[in-house]
Amino acid sequence: MAQEKDDTFLSEDHFEPFQPSESFKKNAKVNDNSFYREAQDDRLAFWSRMAGNLQWTKKWERVLDEDNPPYYKWFINGKLNVSENCLDVHIKNGRGDKRALIFEGEEGDTVSLTYKELLKEACKFSNVLDQLGVKKGDAVTIWMPMIPEAIVAMLACTRIGAVHSVVFGGFSPDALKDRILDSDSKLVITADGANRRGKVIPMRSAAEETLNDCPSVEKVVTVKRTGTAYESKEGRDLAWSEIMAEAGETFEPVTMDAEDPLFILYSSGTTGKPKGILHTTGGYLVGVNATFHYVFDHDDDDIYWCTADIGWITGHSYIVYGPLSNGSSTFIYEGTPDYPNRDRFWELVEKYKITVFYTAPTAIRSFMRWGNQYADKRDLSSLRLLGSVGEPINPEAWLWYHEHIGQGKCPIVDTWWQTETGMIMITPLPGVTPLKPGSASYSFPGVEADVVDDHGNSTKPGQRGFLVIKSPWPAMLRTLYGDPDRFESTYWQQYPGLYFTGDGAWKDKDGYFWIMGRVDDVLNVSGHRIGTMEVESALVEHPAAAEAAVIGKVHEIKGHSITAFVTLKEGYEGSEELVQELKNHVGKKIGAIARPEEIFFTYELPKTRSGKIMRRLLRDIAEQRDLGDVTTLMDPQVVAAIKEGYTEK
Ligand code: PRX
Repeated sequence: MAQEKDDTFLSEDHFEPFQPSESFKKNAKVNDNSFYREAQDDRLAFWSRMAGNLQWTKKWERVLDEDNPPYYKWFINGKLNVSENCLDVHIKNGRGDKRALIFEGEEGDTVSLTYKELLKEACKFSNVLDQLGVKKGDAVTIWMPMIPEAIVAMLACTRIGAVHSVVFGGFSPDALKDRILDSDSKLVITADGANRRGKVIPMRSAAEETLNDCPSVEKVVTVKRTGTAYESKEGRDLAWSEIMAEAGETFEPVTMDAEDPLFILYSSGTTGKPKGILHTTGGYLVGVNATFHYVFDHDDDDIYWCTADIGWITGHSYIVYGPLSNGSSTFIYEGTPDYPNRDRFWELVEKYKITVFYTAPTAIRSFMRWGNQYADKRDLSSLRLLGSVGEPINPEAWLWYHEHIGQGKCPIVDTWWQTETGMIMITPLPGVTPLKPGSASYSFPGVEADVVDDHGNSTKPGQRGFLVIKSPWPAMLRTLYGDPDRFESTYWQQYPGLYFTGDGAWKDKDGYFWIMGRVDDVLNVSGHRIGTMEVESALVEHPAAAEAAVIGKVHEIKGHSITAFVTLKEGYEGSEELVQELKNHVGKKIGAIARPEEIFFTYELPKTRSGKIMRRLLRDIAEQRDLGDVTTLMDPQVVAAIKEGYTEK
């Protein structure tokens, strides 16, 4: 892996870095390097100062406990409550009438809740949880569309100390089932349906079989969003509106230890089973509170919009906990950017006077493809800062975003992080960092990222290697729920003492990080993480499939698209119908985001003599690259056959 970078790399030399404008700099939260110096001088003192921005019921005794690596602990014996920090503190500070949450539905319906109102809703739902017997430490699964109730439910869980597991609303009921079973949730909160591009997608009724198959589930609370009918079981099903109408309006936040679990979020890894990434209370909130404040240059007048879904970590950290713990106004939208028209997002920016906008490169590439006219005809002058997350942003998309959305004046923060890191780790600070399109620039102060070679030594400028984090950070995952061995082997065993991110990267002569994407069998499709093994396991559950190999093929808009090579069992013939059936099968098992774009049938998969599937070769075939030497394969003929089949298609 360790080698000099070649010409195909994004190059730092193509552009003059973009300097922050004097006017942006003047008002920025950070506008010189003293913030970096403070953290360099004493990292733990820096995090301790950041923690001081939150309200603690009892102050921590020690910042970091490193006695039992990799089981690090932060803010030892500190006590606090997350919902109290996201709601009550702002009311106490006289900000109760400020808008906390602004929502617009796909059909144009709106909700706006002040901090006082959001607190009232969260307290009401805390009372509901309490009455339903949910206790501190219990797991609660939330499977909902992007509606305010989802955020109310999350905040209420944190208020009573329940551990939420939010499952992306676009995941299938089968995927929901695996996650409910793994977390052992007693309660599921969902909606009757979701609005999607003018259609209604049933949720609660679609989950009926799943709920019946999950013995831990005692109660199901359903929000009425679309009016879609479902079967309500006596003693199990409750309607959100009915129970909320009777609920008390105050609820004392439960005091939590800094290391008490806060939430589980399932994410794809290199096996068929998703990993339950566990985050805890104090360190997570300190991390997202500080990064939100400085990376998005929090201003009291901001109307902030992160376009992620709350089902992903970006939604957790930068729609809910980061913005609300800072007292910001966070905007959420139910729908997609192209419905009813391709200017929907820009219409919303104009209408709500959004000041800070955070989205993913895949979306930016779609906007580019649709053409400039949609953004150009809208008034985007309220925007002052843009963000990007989820995958490497290609310089072309960066420049388009800068010119057409940022009107040439908004800095762009390209933020690198992961579900596991909980918080932004590599990012520009918009009032300080000269921006190089395509680079996420430097580690956030107090974070120590590096690029290392196969032996764990720092690489030279321009040399590619693996991205690692050299020291613990507050919002780090604490373990994989119920699977500490996998936690240790996935992240901590490649390089003793270093956290392995799974990403390849290099640093340029100025120390800027350039992220190249995953080096493991994890795909990034439209900024969403999907494990090749997950899709393969779904495929082989179909009666016709004997074996499957899944690869990510470079895709102009999505980053990667999924291509599957499948061998069929005796008696099955490959046909277009079977292709559709297999695609639908994966959609049912995981969700629409994991549906392969292409499926090819082959009599055998290319394997090494030890039987390992050579995905790299399949990628080369799919991307029509020269295959090089294939003589080490068990059956070299197979490659020629696949190649022929693939090119014929
Ligand atoms: O490969 C990196 C990519 O997304 C992965 C993490 O995915 P997930 O846990 O789903 O979280 C996504 C949102 C934080 C990383 O391992 N990634 C994320 N942000 C960037 C990125 N790659 C390049 N540049 C980024 N800014």
